[in-house]
Amino acid sequence: MGLSTRQLAEQFPEHAVIGVDRSEDRLTRAHGELPANAWLVRADLVDFWRLAHQAGWAPKRHYLLYPNPYPKASHLKMRWHGHPVFPTLLALGGLLEVRSNWSLYVEEFAMAVYQVTGREADVSEWVPSGEYLTPFEAKYHQSGQTLWRLRVALEST
Ligand SMILES: C[S@@+](CC[C@H](N)C(=O)[O-])C[C@H]1O[C@@H](n2cnc3c(N)ncnc32)[C@H](O)[C@@H]1O
Repeated sequence: MGLSTRQLAEQFPEHAVIGVDRSEDRLTRAHGELPANAWLVRADLVDFWRLAHQAGWAPKRHYLLYPNPYPKASHLKMRWHGHPVFPTLLALGGLLEVRSNWSLYVEEFAMAVYQVTGREADVSEWVPSGEYLTPFEAKYHQSGQTLWRLRVALEST
């Protein structure tokens, strides 16, 4: 959590970078000193996205990094693209990037984006080079799993 926030804050020094997770444990793991433009926030994203949208936030970039896959078919509504908050997430706009080790997750996500916005997301295999952006990215890649990345430019509405 902190690792990706720190790396993105270093990559985009002109922007505020907010890393959100509901897990205190995840937020407090060692991630090195954070740059002045980085913040870690403990929140449930369902609330956070709704409040951000109500407040008129329009992030330039938005990353969903290795979200919980909820692989059982009966859990479809718990995946972000099956959750009632999904249209709000898309309405925030910006360049949305999703990374996952589960191709079905990103394929479904792309279909749901198209359903809501009419926009075609770009989905491709993601091969990390150099530093890993997150601990899960490192774990999955080092265990030989294929990683997937979705990117779509959204309009804030
Ligand atoms: C598989 S872990 C990935 C963690 C980190 N992004 C990474 O790539 O190393 C999924 C994370 O999503 C967080 N999470 C799941 N549902 C959430 C929610 N509704 N609001 C905030 N965080 C959530 C969990 O606490 C967990 O840390």
